[in-house]
Amino acid sequence: MSHLTPITFQPADIGAISTATGRVAILVTPEGKMGQAARRANRLTRGAVARLIESQKFSKAKPGQVISISWPVGMAAEALDVLVLAGKTSAAEARKAGAELAKLKDGKALQVMAGNMARAADLALGLVLREYRFDAHKTANKGADAAEAGEIVICHSRADEMSAAFAPLLAVAEGVHMTRDLVNEPANILTTSEFAERLVEMADIGLEVEVLDEDQLAELGMRTLLCVGQGSDSPSKVVVMQWKGGDKDAAPLALVGKGVVFDTGGISLKLAAGMEEMTMDMGGAGVVAGTMRALAMRKAKANVVGLVGLVENMPSGNATRPGDVIRSMKGDTVEVVNTDAEGRLVLCDVMWYAQERFAPAGMIDLATLTGAIIIGLGHDNAGVFSNDDALCNAFLKAAKAEDEGAWRMPLGKSYDDLLKSRIADMKNIGGRPAGSITAAQFLQRFVKEDVPWIHLDIAGVALVKTDTALAPKGATGWGVMALNRLVQDMFEVA
Ligand code: BES
Ligand code: MN
Ligand code: ZN
Repeated sequence: MSHLTPITFQPADIGAISTATGRVAILVTPEGKMGQAARRANRLTRGAVARLIESQKFSKAKPGQVISISWPVGMAAEALDVLVLAGKTSAAEARKAGAELAKLKDGKALQVMAGNMARAADLALGLVLREYRFDAHKTANKGADAAEAGEIVICHSRADEMSAAFAPLLAVAEGVHMTRDLVNEPANILTTSEFAERLVEMADIGLEVEVLDEDQLAELGMRTLLCVGQGSDSPSKVVVMQWKGGDKDAAPLALVGKGVVFDTGGISLKLAAGMEEMTMDMGGAGVVAGTMRALAMRKAKANVVGLVGLVENMPSGNATRPGDVIRSMKGDTVEVVNTDAEGRLVLCDVMWYAQERFAPAGMIDLATLTGAIIIGLGHDNAGVFSNDDALCNAFLKAAKAEDEGAWRMPLGKSYDDLLKSRIADMKNIGGRPAGSITAAQFLQRFVKEDVPWIHLDIAGVALVKTDTALAPKGATGWGVMALNRLVQDMFEVA
């Protein structure tokens, strides 16, 4: 696991402004109003804060922005970070403000003088989310980082209350960090077996974790899943993680993740350029894992089962060929026209198994499923497909509340018709038009009539090339916060 910066809430300690080392942050409203701590910092620095407030720089500053005063006179700290923020903010604004402080932090200790700010817990969440780094394989930085994991202290007039409000958010942050670690990890390290082991470790936090091996999967009839992994030396696995925090006999929510630890395309080999990105093709499974961690860490009062299909899509003498016909666990036959459309072959068996075994109250699958969703929605929104308006709208609402982009896409019979095969029950591709929708249609064929279902195509949002508000470039952890909130809104018992 990557580090999570230790963070504590303490009663306001005005004296600490002069003695704290590292960085000290104070709040000033966009109108230039200073609280008690800011006034103290202003006195210590002989009016530097007031001069900053008078400056053009300040008048142009946007809410949530930080203006730093370096090596402030009268203070032991090496920087005084002036956070421009109104007393009343939304959760999202507070998180982004915390993220701005994190960007400057650079491993140093940070003391935030938060006064009586209502959203201090969200500010803290933004801080820990944006402080994320993946430096496991950076030889030079390792030692320095370990030495400088400067902790964060948030001074607040109601420290205990804020600390309690932050506890469930910290659980979510741990889940997001886990997802990012899994998605960032290269495929030579995060093999199917290593992935399964990391999930088994979550038994420590109260999840029931089972690993199904290839013999068991063959016994269950998961032939389409197995046909994807058969060209790889890494064994295919399905991992089932159960969190039983709800009523004893309440049907669970099922989360199903695509866990292709590397996608070469198989015999339908991908082009070389950019293929290295396919180390993130287990992103759906990563989000399922991170969400299960968050739910367990905050002891959610809900029953949720996470299932991930872990395979590697490689070309070899033993690999599935284009044209092969495979019988799924459900019993329908699939003509594998393109071995690069492998995610749906993995998901269809795991989804079927999830429904057969758990009779879930709802099912949500997550997958880096199609390049076409990136063409359609770019990197700001995941594609949302659903057979159930109530569940879908609840998810969209949760995603919006967490500021995670999600956009509903259509389903329909004419799209489904594109999957007709001459020799089998269906083909695994529908052709160029509406590639993300035909992929979703394929999955829907494995959803039982009365099961509310959402398919999330996260190919565009799981990993990004530029920094986002709450994450440095790389894996984002998109979806953990939205799913956690959906569980809270819709599945938790009082
Ligand atoms: N894992 C890819 C989709 C993907 C593409 C994820 C880019 C992230 C970034 C998926 O398995 C795939 O190869 N899909 C094909 C489907 C096609 C063969 C119908 C695609 O999108 O080209
Ligand atoms: Mn593929
Ligand atoms: Zn793939």
